[in-house]
Amino acid sequence: MSTSATAVAPDPVATSLPPGPGTPQPVMAARFMLQPTRFLDDCERRFGDTFTIQLTKERTIVITSDPATIKQVFTGDPDQLLAGAGNVVLRPLLGPRSVLLLDGPEHLRQRRLMLPPFHGERMRHYGEVMTEVAERHVARWPVRSSFPAQPSMQAITLEVILRAVFGVDDARRLEQLGAPLRTMLDATASQVRLLLLQLTSSERGPHSPWGRFRALIAPADKVVFEEIRARRADPSAAERDDILSLLLSARDEEGQPLTDAELRDELMTLLLAGHETTATALSWTLERIVRHPDVLERLVEEQREGGSEYLEAVIKETLRLRPVVPGVVRCLPAPFQVKGHLLPAGVNVAPSIYLLHRRADLYPDPTAFKPERFLGQSPGTYEWIPFGGGIRRCLGASFALYEMKIVLSTILARATLEPAVSASEPVKRRAITYTPARGGRIRVAAMSPRPLAA
Ligand code: HEM
Repeated sequence: MSTSATAVAPDPVATSLPPGPGTPQPVMAARFMLQPTRFLDDCERRFGDTFTIQLTKERTIVITSDPATIKQVFTGDPDQLLAGAGNVVLRPLLGPRSVLLLDGPEHLRQRRLMLPPFHGERMRHYGEVMTEVAERHVARWPVRSSFPAQPSMQAITLEVILRAVFGVDDARRLEQLGAPLRTMLDATASQVRLLLLQLTSSERGPHSPWGRFRALIAPADKVVFEEIRARRADPSAAERDDILSLLLSARDEEGQPLTDAELRDELMTLLLAGHETTATALSWTLERIVRHPDVLERLVEEQREGGSEYLEAVIKETLRLRPVVPGVVRCLPAPFQVKGHLLPAGVNVAPSIYLLHRRADLYPDPTAFKPERFLGQSPGTYEWIPFGGGIRRCLGASFALYEMKIVLSTILARATLEPAVSASEPVKRRAITYTPARGGRIRVAAMSPRPLAA
């Protein structure tokens, strides 16, 4: 692609880029942000499963949905495939020490420190909180009027992650922590703002788009630092089992703890990565099942019998067809071979979760919502990747899947959902996620006073 080739510094070796649209950069960036799925579908139709796009002068991305290339990226040398540098757009929000933004030994150190709170045993403990929170929120749903599920899903997942991360149960303190975080999230939800941030420098002063954005996130920073300071001063912190207390007592191989600045960035990462994504995945699941009455019926039946196999298949199929995170990005510090092209240093290579999950050779009748395809079958490691893969695979994948199961079971047990008559909701970009454009609207025919199944 000629437009991309000119933007990257020439290498001494003969490098090349896969073809891609020759659209001017701002138009391409606008389409990528505003019509994300149509843009990707168009590119794939015109150029095949591996193509090049250019969003800004500095940001050339080779997007791929070729399973062999995706395996190559996920299993390749992490020093040659920098995820931290690839995720640089998240830096103003998460901070430079976020595990999502680090590479090399620093990333591994941080990841090891953060893994224990997400192990299986702990998950059961969070289950009680998840059930209690979901029960309370669902009980407040209106009956016989249509409403978007997403705000309710966000309230549930925010409360769950705040309680899991900070171990705070007090409603007033939860509100004090939650309100500035919600403001910060809403600040990242505007497509125009994101587009502006993509197109302007982050080095500018307080009146620039970045300056105003930083002012919006300052109150969230304040509450997170307050909580860290309070916990450090709390003599009972060693006995607590919330994620913040576990991170405070974590030591790396040299016996070093996380600093306050590191803790802030990791907590922000967990709060943001852990809440918005799961809420969106839940909203998509509801959006899908109310449009498939046969699926809804089977789910209710299974719920009555106390099973969960079909529910798990429904969750997998939703994450296949409506992946919340549409792709991951790796930045190349040196030339890298991809499908007959030696990509130049400085380029980004991006496995497209969205396009991979729609390959007809992997998923027959790929656009149809068919949870049955996952019954009794585990998806291939490099074929179903809603949580990414390799050493950067999502730290909270089990947490998210567990929470989805609990929240959806609670909904199915309490609320009789009505099948929707309207067309499927289009995909809309919110920050780096793909969300249902109308928030996953649902209508409850009746509420049962207590869960139908134990
Ligand atoms: C349905 C919900 C979720 C989805 C779809 C999702 C998706 C992803 C994806 C695709 C990545 C890989 C990014 C990359 O390779 O560059 C990732 C990484 C990550 N996720 Fe999630 N995530 C979800 C829920 C969660 C939850 C609940 C948490 C924490 C409580 C979490 C924490 C993280 C962290 C810390 C990383 C960085 C891992 C690393 O770089 O080593 N995520 N997530």
